[in-house]
Amino acid sequence: MQTEATTTDVAKAIDHCNQKFIDNAKKQLKDLDQFSTEALEWLMMEHYQFSLRNTKFLADAAELTGAFDTDAVKQELTRNYKEENGHAAMYKAALKKIDINIETRNEFLSTTHFLDSIGELVDGVPSAVLGAMFATETAAIFEHEVFLDISNEVIKRRNLGDKGKDLVYFHEMHLSGVEQSHREELGIFLHGLPIDQPIVEKQGIRPTIHTQQALTGAEKAIDAMTVWWDDLLAEIKAASKKQSYAMA
Ligand SMILES: [Fe+2]
Ligand SMILES: [Fe+2]
Repeated sequence: MQTEATTTDVAKAIDHCNQKFIDNAKKQLKDLDQFSTEALEWLMMEHYQFSLRNTKFLADAAELTGAFDTDAVKQELTRNYKEENGHAAMYKAALKKIDINIETRNEFLSTTHFLDSIGELVDGVPSAVLGAMFATETAAIFEHEVFLDISNEVIKRRNLGDKGKDLVYFHEMHLSGVEQSHREELGIFLHGLPIDQPIVEKQGIRPTIHTQQALTGAEKAIDAMTVWWDDLLAEIKAASKKQSYAMA
């Protein structure tokens, strides 16, 4: 049994770090009135890019975590992969129904950089991959929450009614347990691990975890998400301002 010398564990430390990023982004998206409809639609197209790449991240992460000394993490990531497979197509079709055509998107470099950073992270040592995936699955809950609000706002402003049904369903479906379970099922491998113990030997289905590597992987993922969201928010603020000048 572990001693109670530490009050914090790896999962809690990652959550603490993630919460700061999430709270900050949420605060800036609280009042959607400040953003133009076009800017909000653009934001959805950028979020779709993550959805598009997500299955590749999960497949790579599953493969990499096959190097752990138990296959429980790999199994969980494979389950996520299977569940996410097809979601990007569903998202794209739902956006099309409200006249957002992904094919018309121009590359936003910050999104490219972000996706490349996550791509590199899921190509690291297994404990780092686990930490990074736990952090991104936690943030996925926040993303579906804000995009549900954004979707409803755009649907209302454009009087889209039933045309927006699939898009609302897409986010609600993710929030009705899908993302929570992705987070929790990865969290079981990190909960209770003392951050000051460099290596926690395997126990039951949980593999041997290098705690610092898990923390570093998560921190890098959170840093990448922070930079991406800062850029996204700056962009929609600037675009909305321009729009309101044009309309004045
Ligand atoms: Fe999904
Ligand atoms: Fe997920």
